[in-house]
Amino acid sequence: MSLTLGIETSCDETALALVDRGRLVAERIATQIDAHALFGGVVPELASREHLRVLAPLFDELLADAGIGPDDIANIAVARGPGLLGSLLVGLSFAKGLALATGARLVGVNHLWAHLTAPALEQEFEYPALGLLVSGGHTQTYLIRSPLEFEVLGRTLDDAAGEAFDKAAKTFNFPYPGGKYIDMLGRRAQPDHSMFPRPYVNNDNLDFSFSGVKTAVVNHVEAHPHLRLPRMPEPGEDVETILTEAGVLDEFSLVCSSYNWCIADALRIKVERALRTVADAGVRSLVVAGGVAANSVIRSTMTTLAETHGLRCVLPPLRLCTDNGAMIAIMGERLVNAGWCHDLDLEAIPRGRA
Ligand code: KG4
Ligand code: ZN
Repeated sequence: MSLTLGIETSCDETALALVDRGRLVAERIATQIDAHALFGGVVPELASREHLRVLAPLFDELLADAGIGPDDIANIAVARGPGLLGSLLVGLSFAKGLALATGARLVGVNHLWAHLTAPALEQEFEYPALGLLVSGGHTQTYLIRSPLEFEVLGRTLDDAAGEAFDKAAKTFNFPYPGGKYIDMLGRRAQPDHSMFPRPYVNNDNLDFSFSGVKTAVVNHVEAHPHLRLPRMPEPGEDVETILTEAGVLDEFSLVCSSYNWCIADALRIKVERALRTVADAGVRSLVVAGGVAANSVIRSTMTTLAETHGLRCVLPPLRLCTDNGAMIAIMGERLVNAGWCHDLDLEAIPRGRA
């Protein structure tokens, strides 16, 4: 047995996992969503305090689940960025302390690469792959030439796709984080393709921009003020019930369906363009990762796109889409196997490449 511990504290999930030769052994995750929901978004100071509060007890639980002691861990992989600096430092400090105490090998992991590697925990796929990373903080396409060679092709110029979903959801007065409500309601209607413009597609580059469509939805709700959830759901109550009571369920469903479509189709256009740009690379798979990859319209759009191009579509299950410790552990294990190792002066890289 050669266990790699993965530590993820870059945003609002404290997550730990143990991986052994590409297979998940145990995992624990503590989400902070409820703490941040009160503020309608992630509060960085609160996030780092929460990580600090739960990380050590979570580690004890993980070891108990796996029936091992700290000395059984061979490698410690920790997300070093991108992410919130204070939160990353909690994970890094914990990783360094543990490495010092046990003599385990320490390796810092790029959180974004880890997202795109997570599906490998459940399915094998071939490289080169085209990666689409869509999360609350990032929207990027990658050419992944091999498991450790990531080349950014396109990135967002402003907001991430997840922010566009969350901002629209906030405008509709949905509970935070609201992307999943837009997805769910949208399934009830066919999209109106003329309701919102597909963002930033009339150009010839590979980048994304979602600030325009975010503004379009805000303007739409200002012009149709009844498109706001009249009250927060009680525990166990669903949003549909409240919208039905208010007589706006069908209208909301149409708006959500149109919004899902315009974001998914903008992603499709840029992914297809990215595939054309790297046509010589011999891409075999399309890997879609990040929390927004849970969106059903994005999933079906990417599945069709992959079929059209003769690619294997790699869509992780929901628990591997959102932030988790297993993705850090498997990425770390791959780095260690390739000879990577960091010293105790390993630093966080909160922005850009890590
Ligand atoms: O990857 P993630 O867990 O966090 C970051 O690392 O950023 O992604 C969270 C994002 C949030 O913006 C959330 O609203 C969005 O993923 N999300 C969805 C859905 N489920 C989660 N967006 C659209 N449709 C969904 N079903
Ligand atoms: Zn993430």
